[in-house]
Amino acid sequence: MSSILVAKRRDDYRPSDFFIDTVDISFILSPENTEVCNIMEVTRNISGCDILKLDGEQLNFVSLMINGRLAKENIDYTLHENGLDINLDVDHATLEIKNTISPINNTSLEGLYYVSGAYCTQCEAEGFRKITYFLDRPDVLSKYRVTIICDRPELTYLLSNGNKLEDTLLEDGRRKVVWEDPHRKPAYLFALVAGHFDRLEDSFTTSEGREVLLEVFVDSGRLHQAGHAMSSLKKAMKWDEDTFGLAYDLDRYMIVAVDFFNMGAMENKGLNVFNSKFVLAEPKSATDEDYFNIESIIAHEYFHNWTGNRVTCRDWFQLSLKEGLTVFRDQRFSEDMSSALGCRIKQVKVMREHQFAEDAGPMSHPIRPDEVLEMNNFYTVTVYDKGAEVIRMLHTLLTPAGFRRGMDLYFARHDGQAVTCDDFVQAMEDANDANLSQFKLWYSQSGTPEVKLALEQNQLRLTQTNKPTPDQAVKQALYIPIKLSMLDEKGLEHTVDEEHLGTFVLSQEAATISLPERLQHGVPVILTDFSAPVKIDYQYTLDEILHVLRFAQSHYAKWDASQMLYSRLIRLAYDSNEDNDNDNNSDNNNDNNKYNAGQIQSLTNLIEYLEQATLPDDVVAQILCIPSFETLAIEYTQLNPSRLQSAHQELTLLLARTAKDCCERRLKEQRVLPYRYEQSEVNRRTLFAVCIRLHVLALSQEGKGNDLLSAYAQADNMTDKLALLKAAQQADINAFDALMIDFEEEFGHDAVVMDKWFALHATAPRDDILSRLDLLQAHSQYSVKNPNKVRALIGSFAFYNTQGFHAADGSGYKYVVDFLMKLDAINPQVASRIITPLLQMNRYESTYKSLIESQLSRLFTQKNLSKDLFEKLSKTLAQSA
Ligand code: TRP
Ligand code: ZN
Repeated sequence: MSSILVAKRRDDYRPSDFFIDTVDISFILSPENTEVCNIMEVTRNISGCDILKLDGEQLNFVSLMINGRLAKENIDYTLHENGLDINLDVDHATLEIKNTISPINNTSLEGLYYVSGAYCTQCEAEGFRKITYFLDRPDVLSKYRVTIICDRPELTYLLSNGNKLEDTLLEDGRRKVVWEDPHRKPAYLFALVAGHFDRLEDSFTTSEGREVLLEVFVDSGRLHQAGHAMSSLKKAMKWDEDTFGLAYDLDRYMIVAVDFFNMGAMENKGLNVFNSKFVLAEPKSATDEDYFNIESIIAHEYFHNWTGNRVTCRDWFQLSLKEGLTVFRDQRFSEDMSSALGCRIKQVKVMREHQFAEDAGPMSHPIRPDEVLEMNNFYTVTVYDKGAEVIRMLHTLLTPAGFRRGMDLYFARHDGQAVTCDDFVQAMEDANDANLSQFKLWYSQSGTPEVKLALEQNQLRLTQTNKPTPDQAVKQALYIPIKLSMLDEKGLEHTVDEEHLGTFVLSQEAATISLPERLQHGVPVILTDFSAPVKIDYQYTLDEILHVLRFAQSHYAKWDASQMLYSRLIRLAYDSNEDNDNDNNSDNNNDNNKYNAGQIQSLTNLIEYLEQATLPDDVVAQILCIPSFETLAIEYTQLNPSRLQSAHQELTLLLARTAKDCCERRLKEQRVLPYRYEQSEVNRRTLFAVCIRLHVLALSQEGKGNDLLSAYAQADNMTDKLALLKAAQQADINAFDALMIDFEEEFGHDAVVMDKWFALHATAPRDDILSRLDLLQAHSQYSVKNPNKVRALIGSFAFYNTQGFHAADGSGYKYVVDFLMKLDAINPQVASRIITPLLQMNRYESTYKSLIESQLSRLFTQKNLSKDLFEKLSKTLAQSA
């Protein structure tokens, strides 16, 4: 065991001793005992190497033939816990390896697994080694031929990558299907699916004239929920041709939706596997957010065909090469398909709510990590979303046209190769004759930079601070593009950077920008559009924030100003609660006490501005949203979570009261049309959701608000239903329980929809939440083996039920850790995600911190702890010591 607990380092990369040129792999499927026969042509890459070390985990070895001769154990090969070493002092050989596996007992959902009547694989990152012995690393590219034999005629589809060569009924009644993928690929892109599905078919003709068969496979009875996924796929195919000149390269593109899946989806060549949550949609069952996510994830996996599959990663430390770039591409796609501003705000919320926290915690790592114990732990918001922000900065700095030149050169150079992040940046540099050497620090340096702004008499001074992180003590100054302008006293906006393009590049620790006289008492508008993944420190007065809200041209800047106002007010309430705690005479019921007249007035002014300005519905909705607890938490040291929770709640109530008329009017103005997923309607419903939540909250303070039931009964779509349910939940009114019973009656049969129900229960602010969670775990739709259920119930509780999770007696922490002890043995990947909120332990006030610490220490001593949890726990507990 101890040998595999040694971390791998990026610097230790060496090319593979051998390559595997072709794979001819056959499966005789059976849930308990699937027989695998893998025939490989191998060639030696490094002369002098005479041992071929194949990875293999949880496999039952049967036999090995080398060039047609049966090999002998301990003479020709040795077996060990993590693979098979073959003595091979030749330049070429044909190997035939037979082994068996047990898909029905594979609850990790990695490798080949069998659940609810279907077989499915998940090989990224290192799952292929749970199927057969292999060089399971992304720089080994092979041509695959796959044979699937199955004795169960009810499994109508036996699928794998590429083109179908053969589909025959054998004499013994078994069915045999053969697939061949003409493109060389790493093992992590292999896929096999066998099951009974309904199938939606369509076609797309590429810009190169290729007619592609498109197929979406879903559980039987759900064909009517597959249309949105299909039309999203066609939009993505067209967009990538138009935007990057990239066309699809096979005659068939398959998408399969499954209920048991560890993540969102997987880009296997020609055969994407999706979590059914990101495929199935109809107005009755899916929200606008679901429609949006489906479109963006379908696009994400499709875009991987070029950024990931045609050009892949040399090693897993380079993961952001494909993920950061592909997230950036799916973001651009969504911006073009829906509302660019709405998209940007969503992206920024992910960064501020999740990525900043990760980067401030024990797992902080650069977008290209240097050290990894369990690769599955590095599919992170840092690698994905901060990675996309780094690509976006390149796009900003090089201009869209320059970025496109870099992409073209990248594909011209590296198509068919396994490459590094350096190779990508090199292509960007060479295509633009640019020097990106300082910029590249974004790939190697972890942590969130802080940019401090000071308005001195005749200049603006900018300073960047890069604090040490647990993984890196020493930091360097980064190359930071900061979109920046100044508002004069009249509210006119002026560019101030030297080139007057609106973006100032801060490349040293400090820099100054001189200001003309008329701007010396102006107000800066900083980091518009979140031009870099940094935090900004500027001491605005409340009036200055309102000045930005009123006069900045950019809707993004207006939204950002509203967020600053809210977090400032919450900070004031938090601090005054602290005083009260200390005086021991707290008066938590009268939240107005927390604020002076000027502070209350700032909120009134914000609402007044919203009432007279003519902003689009989605902008108004976003401005009426207070930053989440998680977003705020990152700004506090020695955080007392329950005090922050009360401060958050106090401001929410004050906003609900202040915005009461505004919300009422907007709700009255709503013209309800039959559901269509169309941007103007999405914006309208988004505004409805925000207003109804504030409105019900305001009413609940007056003991009213239970008349939601009829509105709920009239709603014809899931978006509005969920908005009403959330409103009732947040206001904690009696109607909530009645609505939840209704909801269960209507949707109890639909697994995807019931996840929303579980999540609503798990995030309800109620004192008996833990016994609720026990009851819900006994619900017939719940299963600890299904990651969607676990995330909906336990994940939602740990991430978003601030009150319950941070209960002062530590019962919330204990509940989650007890659960993780059970889950880790079933599915370590999912356990390792659910633990995330507990990793923030070192940022909490000592009483909370020690409650978490004792729970994590208890978990750490558990027998057979997974590598996944071991890596996170050891880092967290070490940081505290
Ligand atoms: N590569 C996939 C994506 O970005 C995500 C992925 C990585 C994944 N590891 C996985 C999906 C394990 C499922 C299971 O879309
Ligand atoms: Zn991806």
